[in-house]
Amino acid sequence: MITYKDASAVAKMRAAGRIVANTLRLLGENVAPGVSTQRLNDLADAYIRSQGATPSFLHYRGYPMSVCISVNEEVVHGIPGKRKLCEGDIVSCDVGAIFEGYHGDAARTFMVGKVSANTQRLIRVTKECFCKALEQCQRGRRVSDISRAVQSHAESCGYGVVRALVGHGIGRAMHEDPEVPNFVQRRGGDPRLQPGMTLAIEPMINMGTAEVDFKHPDGWTVTTSDKLPSAHYENTVLITEGEPVILTLWEGEEL
Ligand code: MF3
Ligand code: CO
Repeated sequence: MITYKDASAVAKMRAAGRIVANTLRLLGENVAPGVSTQRLNDLADAYIRSQGATPSFLHYRGYPMSVCISVNEEVVHGIPGKRKLCEGDIVSCDVGAIFEGYHGDAARTFMVGKVSANTQRLIRVTKECFCKALEQCQRGRRVSDISRAVQSHAESCGYGVVRALVGHGIGRAMHEDPEVPNFVQRRGGDPRLQPGMTLAIEPMINMGTAEVDFKHPDGWTVTTSDKLPSAHYENTVLITEGEPVILTLWEGEEL
């Protein structure tokens, strides 16, 4: 069931979104060679709690940490730990927080020091995929218009679009209807976008094959099947009568 948010729900979603965005900014400021992924987790956890919010990923279906940190060929759901970032790595940080009963969810892929030109392009195009999706976020358009925008941009750049994981509605629950795939799928309904819908739009784009593995021994980390890098860019977006509103940009952050 799709839930439509009234003004009071939107106010709480904005607050949750701001906390998520500021957490991502903090992580971006702390990404550097030698920093452990555990350190990033702990910074995020402390900041989210300092704002009166709760990290929503912790204990979600048994997930053991407060944020997801996925390095290089890790697509999503990397578990923070002892691993230290190295110059040339890319690190996808995915953050969720609940504030006054409402969720925010967003992700960024950061570069560790100097990264190859190829990989820089992957990160840039992944964000562009989100921007193309945002252009479709007008009342009366359909979820498949978002999906098509992401898929056509990524594939025209020669990249693989992850199909095994999708974006989602978000609100009182982290995952609500509708599903927001990053590719056009034949099956299932294709709802129209309506004011009051809040969607987590999250292209996951691979340098090489679209195929991913769920065979990591930790039970969580999703990796590309060819071990080439993957990037992730996610925002929580509110559909309105007019222009869409991104709820998870930090102050001064540019699209
Ligand atoms: N941000 C992820 C999503 O959009 C959720 C992370 S899964 C968790 O689905 F287990 F870490 F919570
Ligand atoms: Co999400």
